[in-house]
Amino acid sequence: LDTTRELLLSRIRDVRDYPKPGVVFKDITPLLADPEAFSALTEALAELCARHGATKIVGLEARGFILAAPVAVRAGLGFVPVRKAGKLPGATLSQTYELEYGSAEIEVHAEDLAAGDRVMVIDDVLATGGTAGAALELIRRAGAEVAGVAVLMEIGFLGGRARLEPELHGAPLDALIAI
Ligand code: PRP
Ligand code: MG
Repeated sequence: LDTTRELLLSRIRDVRDYPKPGVVFKDITPLLADPEAFSALTEALAELCARHGATKIVGLEARGFILAAPVAVRAGLGFVPVRKAGKLPGATLSQTYELEYGSAEIEVHAEDLAAGDRVMVIDDVLATGGTAGAALELIRRAGAEVAGVAVLMEIGFLGGRARLEPELHGAPLDALIAI
């Protein structure tokens, strides 16, 4: 698995001063464009879903969708989109969360999650943990159980793991790469 990790890491591009000066953006498009790396990533995340006994996959708009959809197919599980507010047509549950400046809101179709579901949350990056934390709230408010959170990479110095800890209720948080 160290070889998988190295392959994934080698396909993530650092873009300096994007989206603003001083920030180093982690660009996953080279990884997505490489079928060997994308497939290895899909396989590693699907393996975590099986290990944690997930029965459904939640992907977080937008970059989380790109990873979570093939993982759901690979794992043989249904895919449930958590979208930014105002995009889902049916009855939704919504959750706001704090950003560095201001707040954001995400939603899920209420009928997509229910008691008895064990849900794995998949996203590309765990930064401050705000997005993933709000997704965990949505899952629990829908009556479902959290199987775990799995991300491609965790940005350690932003403290997302600590912020998420109280929301996990003991569920695992796996990052394939920690930076
Ligand atoms: C990015 C990233 C994660 C989130 C992590 O999404 O894809 O979803 O931020 O940050 P956090 O841990 O501080 O919440 P973003 O909403 O910026 O854009 P996207 O729609 O391209 O995924
Ligand atoms: Mg995102």
